[in-house]
Amino acid sequence: MIISTIAALSDNRVIGADGGLPWDIPSDLTRFRSITMGHTVIMGRKTYESIGHPLLGRRNIVLTRKGSQIEGCEIARNVPAAIAAAEGEEEVFICGGGEVFQEALPLCQRLYLTVVHGNYRGDAFLPELPEGFVELHREEFPDTTPPSSFVVLEKVERVETGADAEQLRRKGREALNRQLYFLARRCFEQAQALEENPETASDLAYSLIKSGATGRQARDMAERALLQQPKNLRILLNAGRVLILSGEKSKGLDTLRRGVQAGGGPEFVAELARCGTRKLQPIKSLPRSHPLNRYLGLLLHRMNLK
Ligand SMILES: NC(=O)c1ccc[n+]([C@@H]2O[C@H](COP(=O)([O-])OP(=O)(O)OC[C@H]3O[C@@H](n4cnc5c(N)ncnc54)[C@H](OP(=O)(O)O)[C@@H]3O)[C@@H](O)[C@H]2O)c1
Repeated sequence: MIISTIAALSDNRVIGADGGLPWDIPSDLTRFRSITMGHTVIMGRKTYESIGHPLLGRRNIVLTRKGSQIEGCEIARNVPAAIAAAEGEEEVFICGGGEVFQEALPLCQRLYLTVVHGNYRGDAFLPELPEGFVELHREEFPDTTPPSSFVVLEKVERVETGADAEQLRRKGREALNRQLYFLARRCFEQAQALEENPETASDLAYSLIKSGATGRQARDMAERALLQQPKNLRILLNAGRVLILSGEKSKGLDTLRRGVQAGGGPEFVAELARCGTRKLQPIKSLPRSHPLNRYLGLLLHRMNLK
């Protein structure tokens, strides 16, 4: 599980004043909503009170040492307990305020920061970031009032300068396994700059789409890699995922099915299942997870009969 912080801070690190936000930037609130939607959000009691209601479409955990019940929210007595309550989820978001950030920042792997340009008066602050965070993505919004920047940082062991393409690929794959998509993207980009390789291009395409790049860029890259190596299982899996994520669901599902016929195993079946293409198991009297059903299901897929 990725533990992330999401915050908006001014150039002088102010995040709050008099129990509220010192600015009004609708696009920042929209971004907050889209990043956290469907996930668990963890916040301090004072931040909850400044919002005044649970955040819709999200599991709300409020930290309080003395409060007992808040309708629509779960209560946690400390930060580790709040994080443990979200165990098993893909990503959990620490949403402030200053007191909570102080304790939780050292536990975070990813930061989504909106930097609001200007110096503000305030009474809540984002503490200095712990060591090891590297900026992996930045967008500038000079036309918001006030102007702002959106920055994503991830805690990484630095990619050593002088690393060769193979080391970068290995590091990128480790990052992919840990769902650190921005780090994976950076490693694969550097590896490709040193030595082009279709498999790495397809890994890069998947990291790109998972880290917010346009679907088209990722799709073109994944499809080019597939043209070069149409039977490569890793490329087939990445291409199927990228096509689905970029909105080409039926083409993506066909690609995944081709992968199964080419010998792809549980990763392909899991991806197909995630997209809701599950059919009845071959032996209906046995559970879907029974080894006979699993084996027969895979066999039928490979024979293009399922
Ligand atoms: N710009 C941003 O991104 C952003 C984000 C969030 C909030 N804010 C702003 O930040 C300000 C609020 O921040 P704040 O620092 O004053 O308060 P806060 O961190 O939101 O809440 C503090 C309260 O949370 C509980 N708490 C904190 N740490 C805890 C822990 N480790 N274990 C259990 N409970 C814990 C305590 O509640 P009890 O007193 O009930 O025990 C504490 O009094 C507001 O102005 C808000 O608008 C800004």
